[in-house]
Order: sequence, then C-alpha cells, then structure tokens
Amino acid sequence: MARRPMVAGNWKMYKTAGEGAILTQNIEPLVSGIWDDVEVVVCPPYTALKSVSTVIELDRLTMGLGAQDVHWEHEGAFTGAIAPRMLVDLRCDYVIIGHSERREYFGETDETVSKKARAVFAAGMVPIVCVGESLAVREAEETETFVRGQVRAAIEGLSAEDASRLVIAYEPVWAIGTGRTPTPEGANDVARSIRATVGATFGQPSAISMRVLYGGSVKPENAAMFFAEPDIDGALVGGAALEASSFAAIVEAAR
Ligand code: 13P
Repeated sequence: MARRPMVAGNWKMYKTAGEGAILTQNIEPLVSGIWDDVEVVVCPPYTALKSVSTVIELDRLTMGLGAQDVHWEHEGAFTGAIAPRMLVDLRCDYVIIGHSERREYFGETDETVSKKARAVFAAGMVPIVCVGESLAVREAEETETFVRGQVRAAIEGLSAEDASRLVIAYEPVWAIGTGRTPTPEGANDVARSIRATVGATFGQPSAISMRVLYGGSVKPENAAMFFAEPDIDGALVGGAALEASSFAAIVEAAR
C-alpha cells in the first residue's frame, strides 16, 4: 500500500499570529494542487493557530494544521496548559508530541508522551510523535535500541487502528538546527526499525500504513535524498519551514 507523503513545518517559537497568517498565505499558492500527492501541514505556536486556521479555512484542502504540544487531560486546573479539545476547536488535525526540545527543556518523558498520544487520538486528532537519539547515544552505537524504546513507550495503550494512522518523526537530536544529518540510508535504517517496532505490537497492516518522517536540518537541497528512501514518508521541517519558498521546495521534493 502506498503511503501518502507528509511534509510538516514545525514553526517552534517563531511567528506571531499576524506573521503566521502571512506565511500561510504565502505558502498556499506554492503548494496548491499538491494535496492528493503530498499532505502539507503547518504547526504554528498556540497563539498563531487561530489566525493560521482562518487562512487555511478558505481552502481546507491545501494544508493541514497541527499544534506543537498538548496536555493529556480533557480540562482542569493546569495553568498554562492547553487541552486536546481546545485544539480540535481551532480545527487542528495533528499535534506534535515528544519533540526533543520539549523532552530537554520542559520535562517531557516517555510516560507523558504516551498519555498525550492517547489523548490526541481520543480527541479525534493524530499525534506526530518525535523520537531520536542524542549524540552520546549515537556514539555508543545504541541508536536503534534507544529509539525502539521511545517508540514502544509512545504506542503503549493505543489500538491497532490508532497505530495505523500514527505519524512518527525520527529526529536525531544532534541533527536538529545543526546542518548535520545522518546519511539517507542511515536514517532509513532507523525508520525501518521504528516501523518494525510498531509492527511487532500491532501487526503488519498498522506498520505498513503508519508514516515515518525524517526531521533534522532538512533543506530543499537534501530533502529529495531522504524522500527516496523506502521507509521515509516525508519530513518534519524546522528552520526551512519558516520561509514559504524553502518550505514549498521541500514539499515539491516529496511529490
Ligand atoms: P531543523 O529543521 O531546524 O533542524 O529542525 C528540525 C525539527 O526540530 C523539526 O521538528
């Protein structure tokens, strides 16, 4: 079964509501007509979700919308947190979960990632779960063991149907924002291992349908090499997603 490629832009802590609306308006004409071939998703900060959603709304079949984090509870006394249903209300389709920056700076753990993944599915959205090794883990040649552990924790408690819709982004921590990347073959080895881990729990059909993205210094110049790999179904893009032309070039490479 052919998987539809996905290119998702993680805007991180960039762009105000107004700037995000303009960026989305600029991306739209560059990616229109591509929806059947490539699923394009933008993930602005919370404060720009509404304005970006309004721009996308005019032409819902051009881009999907994602948030960058979420709380696992439906509602409650959790100052500063955002519940899944609040994101649904803004027409979010996806939520990035377990990004290495959340794990490093905000106390995200395998356990909270798992809770969030279940909550996101329960609310009717799809999580983009980020996994990836640090340089120390890579140098110790424990990448696959480490990443498999992160994946096993994240998928705990999901159903096979959830798993088949899941998106996992393999983002080596040392490749994020550094200009360094693994070889496409090396990234594909980890992507294959991620797929096998999901397959071992939920069976082949889920493993075959789920999408695995590569993330970490993806640029227009190197995107096609990663997309040529059989187990890599697209990209989660940081820096290059902040400009319409470079983001659209990566989307084009995925077609
Ligand atoms: P860069 O593309 O800037 O390396 O960021 C990758 C990333 O963290 C996407 O989530």
